[in-house]
Amino acid sequence: MEEEAPEASMEEFREAGKIGAKVREESKKLINIGEGILDIAETIEGMIREEGAEPAFPANVSVNEIAAHYTPEFEDGAVIGENDVVKVDMGAELNGALSDTAYTIDLSGKHGKLVEASEKALESAISNMRAGVSIGEIGGIIEEKIKEYGFKPVANLTGHRIKTGMLHSGIDVPSIKTDDPYQLQEGEVYAIEPFATDGKGFVSDTDQVEIFSLYMPGRLRMRQSRKLLNHIISNYGMLPFAERWLMGEFKSKLLLKNALKEMLRMQVIKGYPVLKEAGGGLVSQAEHTLLIKEDGAEVLTK
Ligand code: CO
Repeated sequence: MEEEAPEASMEEFREAGKIGAKVREESKKLINIGEGILDIAETIEGMIREEGAEPAFPANVSVNEIAAHYTPEFEDGAVIGENDVVKVDMGAELNGALSDTAYTIDLSGKHGKLVEASEKALESAISNMRAGVSIGEIGGIIEEKIKEYGFKPVANLTGHRIKTGMLHSGIDVPSIKTDDPYQLQEGEVYAIEPFATDGKGFVSDTDQVEIFSLYMPGRLRMRQSRKLLNHIISNYGMLPFAERWLMGEFKSKLLLKNALKEMLRMQVIKGYPVLKEAGGGLVSQAEHTLLIKEDGAEVLTK
């Protein structure tokens, strides 16, 4: 019998939230023209560890039409450009308690409205969240606010309920109006993350995959894959991890690639492809982690 991990306490969720918020604010000074994306991600992950937590997932630094799931690869040489719209998404893990928070920086200063659209949509969603409100209704509030600004919500990116040790725990909060009747319950924790775009309003997968997580038990033939599986289980559990985090475990990049390939084929892990706006539009994002209460929502990443 597998033992279930104990639930993290609300106090631990609050602490994970506080660390996420602190690192989010401190990380804003890293987003400058010419700064290396690998440096930014590693610095953010280091800042989270310095606070006594672990990254809840690899720091995402997604630029322009890349909406989400971009974390730098090993020896990534990309740098921030002068016209970039940069989305930074991060979170802290503390004894299984998780936070997830994001912001957008517009380096050219030409896309202020796009940035504001996702921020205001997040604010509106938060001020309407309380026990008993349906998630379809929250989606409608997000959609309406983003459209007020003349942009589209990204329809196939959603917020998500968070549980102890689980970032995506099965309930998704849309960014468009739906008739999903599921009602927010007191004591539940959610990450709400509206994405706004001047493109088509949905994202598609690219061929690049840098982030993975455990998926299903399965048989692995290669010794290197079995060794990697043990490493993943003991270090990340069900939480997402980056390919670049694993380089130290292997003598060469090729050995790592082969192990990951076998694990993907056997569905022992799954990959999260880098997501790109389908029309090549610019994308902004804002995100907080919230605790649902009877009469409102407490922002854990304030
Ligand atoms: Co996030």
